[in-house]
Amino acid sequence: MCGIVGYVGSRNAAPIIVEGLRKLEYRGYDSAGVAIHDGKGIEIVRTLGKLARLSDALEKRPLTGSTGIGHTRWATHGRPSEANAHPHAAGPVAVVHNGIIENHVAVRQELEAQGVKFLSDTDTEIVAHLIHREIERGVKPLFKAVQGALKHVVGAYAIAVTSREEPDVIVAARNGSPLVVGLGEGEMLCGSDIPALLSHTRQMVFLEDGDVVELRASGIKVETVSGEAATRKAKQIDWSPVQAERGGYKHFMRKEIHEQPDVVEATLRGRIDLAEGDVYGAEMGVSAEVAREVRRVYFIACGTSHHAAIAGRYWMEQLAKVPCVVELASEVRYREPLFYPDDLVVAVSQSGETADTLAALKAAKAGGAKVLAVANVLDSAIPRAADGALYTHAGPEIGVASTKCFTTQLAALLLLAVYMGRRRGTLPQDRSQKVLQSLVEVPNHMREVLGDADYVHAIAKRLTHAKDVLFLGRGLGYPIALEGALKLKEISYAHAEGYAAGEMKHGPIALIDEQLPVIAVCPRDAQYDKMLSNVQEVRAREGQVIAIATKGDEEMLEIAQHVVWIPKMADEVLPLITVLPLQLISYFVANLKGNDVDQPRNLAKTVTVE
Ligand code: G6P
Repeated sequence: MCGIVGYVGSRNAAPIIVEGLRKLEYRGYDSAGVAIHDGKGIEIVRTLGKLARLSDALEKRPLTGSTGIGHTRWATHGRPSEANAHPHAAGPVAVVHNGIIENHVAVRQELEAQGVKFLSDTDTEIVAHLIHREIERGVKPLFKAVQGALKHVVGAYAIAVTSREEPDVIVAARNGSPLVVGLGEGEMLCGSDIPALLSHTRQMVFLEDGDVVELRASGIKVETVSGEAATRKAKQIDWSPVQAERGGYKHFMRKEIHEQPDVVEATLRGRIDLAEGDVYGAEMGVSAEVAREVRRVYFIACGTSHHAAIAGRYWMEQLAKVPCVVELASEVRYREPLFYPDDLVVAVSQSGETADTLAALKAAKAGGAKVLAVANVLDSAIPRAADGALYTHAGPEIGVASTKCFTTQLAALLLLAVYMGRRRGTLPQDRSQKVLQSLVEVPNHMREVLGDADYVHAIAKRLTHAKDVLFLGRGLGYPIALEGALKLKEISYAHAEGYAAGEMKHGPIALIDEQLPVIAVCPRDAQYDKMLSNVQEVRAREGQVIAIATKGDEEMLEIAQHVVWIPKMADEVLPLITVLPLQLISYFVANLKGNDVDQPRNLAKTVTVE
């Protein structure tokens, strides 16, 4: 997720901006840049890689001036490169942006037809050209030109803009991506997050979606995009700098758990056509022809991504009616697997760098299969080696235990199954409309469930001394049981096992006694009755049951010791919700034990070795 910093005042802007960007490094980035107004014109310096490279470039070519904008880029459209790094210029303006512009393809085509030449692959560059077009049409000042331009933009954004023609002004705007304004003494700042501004001021104004703000050294003016005046009160921030980087949360993992509604929204943004009950093919990484003609989908992945792939298989079989296999990449690569040219191999990986997944992908390619990567890091090794890529838009995940990458993988895989089902003629429009409508509603349901975190905390307290925990689920609840167990063992170091509830009688039932907590994923779905029987079997042996159940389920309330409620939802989207209490349970248990939640012992975020 990109970082933005803007400064207007009387001090030299470049060092203030670079220092601010450094405070946003935790957001993750692959390139950086600044645009500084030196009183006469705008100079831009951009570099690929870490901020140290930008600082080196600025040492060789110092930029002086007291108005400027800066950016750290986390690539979403267009690979990490200097040309795709921000700021992007058009005519007199330079722009930095965080977010995703949904209609960028259509606007780009429109602008190209008007003779505009694009210098990057980014969605951002259209914003610069739209503002330039307003200025050429005589719209002044910059504030009004930005308002005019944003009327053509659909999507999520936070932007900051500077113009050669207005040396003492920055214009910024937000819609769906964060942007904070800092009120200094004779200087104003803006940034993606509080830490970027905290060493200059504690007086902050939090913009609302649809706000456009003009910053001058003497003050700010806020209006909506459509030109209505808006009053936004300043707030005094009393966070410590470290707390500020985590958005007030104690750990990145907790912050990332709570980011899930937003990043799932980002992963769905611009990809769904609800009226048609369809998914746009442009970003699915698979052509309509391949979607139609493949005879088998073969998922390969490791760890949490493997659990997402299991859910992917269920969706693919239900909606696209194509036979599926799910395999651990580390097993596939050494097993002389059989791949065929009419296979679609889907390699799922948050990092895009996992050595086993990459090796299995190469084996699939060697066998002539088509390969699709589902990844979170643009242009990482796995999408580069694949024939196509479907990106999740989780932004950088810093906690080693994956949370928001998992739910965005689920969202992406469900989109893929709908896309394939529609192309193959196996998914009727009315059903796909229902599935997609339910998917669009997921972020709000996530907010509701995450709002009950205190109750989950109380349950987690009872699990702090548990040595073993059993997680049970069926159908789409099965990969969630596996994921719940993996989360708990990763960060709390308790032994945890995820099991398909139907297998309980074939082993785990022998473990059940009054000491064993059993976490049962049992929403009211097609498998509910079977799950209910399993829960009764656990209770009959004195096992302690914590159920994840659908609101209003009186039966479950009577049987289980504790129930975490989730809203009533369509079966297909349940895993995106049922996993949330399990993530929270593992987080709280690990935190109560005093463990290093974000960097659990022996684990790595990106496993580039076997
Ligand atoms: C490591 C990470 C896990 C991740 C797994 C697979 O073990 O800690 O969170 O699920 O690797 O990584 P990938 O990047 O391929 O999804």
